[in-house]
Amino acid sequence: MGDKAEIRPMNEKYWDLVSANYEKEITSVFFRDKEGLVRERINAGRKLGASVRAADLGCGVGNFVPLLSETFGHVDACDWSEVGLNQARENCISFENTKFHKINLCNDRLPFDLVDFALCVNVLIMPDLGDRLLAWRAVTNQVKGAGTLLLVVPSHESAQMELYNGLEQCLSDGESCSDSIIATQHAEADSSDLQLGVYSVNGTRTKHYLKQELRMMLASHQFEVLEITRIVYPKDVENPVSDSWDWMVVAKRRLS
Ligand SMILES: C[S@@+](CC[C@H](N)C(=O)[O-])C[C@H]1O[C@@H](n2cnc3c(N)ncnc32)[C@H](O)[C@@H]1O
Repeated sequence: MGDKAEIRPMNEKYWDLVSANYEKEITSVFFRDKEGLVRERINAGRKLGASVRAADLGCGVGNFVPLLSETFGHVDACDWSEVGLNQARENCISFENTKFHKINLCNDRLPFDLVDFALCVNVLIMPDLGDRLLAWRAVTNQVKGAGTLLLVVPSHESAQMELYNGLEQCLSDGESCSDSIIATQHAEADSSDLQLGVYSVNGTRTKHYLKQELRMMLASHQFEVLEITRIVYPKDVENPVSDSWDWMVVAKRRLS
């Protein structure tokens, strides 16, 4: 918030750079989900049986893939970044039931069968609406009828609360109203970005979702929402103003 930063476009080169320095660049759900909510929901998939096919759509460096490989009969993991995929392959070298694919969710046909369980963690965050809708279609179409989608996305409500908490802090430090607004506003976002929940995260325009927007998106992609829960990240050095959260959604594809 506040100062103008250089905007980094969210393209293939960006994701290769991020993947090369993943721990530093990404506030990873894998490490920050202290309650293990995502792991718990993946584990719950065990009851679906050993023959089940799963996918990690946008697997990054593959942090969640070993858990999927241990839980499900066959796993397809895909990502746009070859750098991320190379690390993911190394992470999963011992799993013969796991295949990796380089794909752009906004352009490519997914080169593997539909799955019973799809994981998609902080991938549907592209700032461009057209690209995002293509990626939503690719992700949701990859799930079989009655299959499960476990989705994690940044929360718009959380980003707004961070702003209000920052404002409150400035005012209680004795700043004027106008200085407090300037200090806390998202300087690099235009008004349509703000309306659509696109905020800069480390200099990259990133889509954030409202809880109700997720319900609407999932309904329009023929999914029944079973659960929407906050994955809460307590305030820390990186996130000093207030607790923040992502939305974790469990949804079931309707039988058509
Ligand atoms: C924030 S990272 C999350 C990675 C992983 N899901 C995790 O939780 O560790 C987002 C990932 O989505 C991938 N991604 C972004 N846009 C994509 C696209 N259009 N097609 C495929 N993967 C994409 C990136 O390469 C990156 O690895």
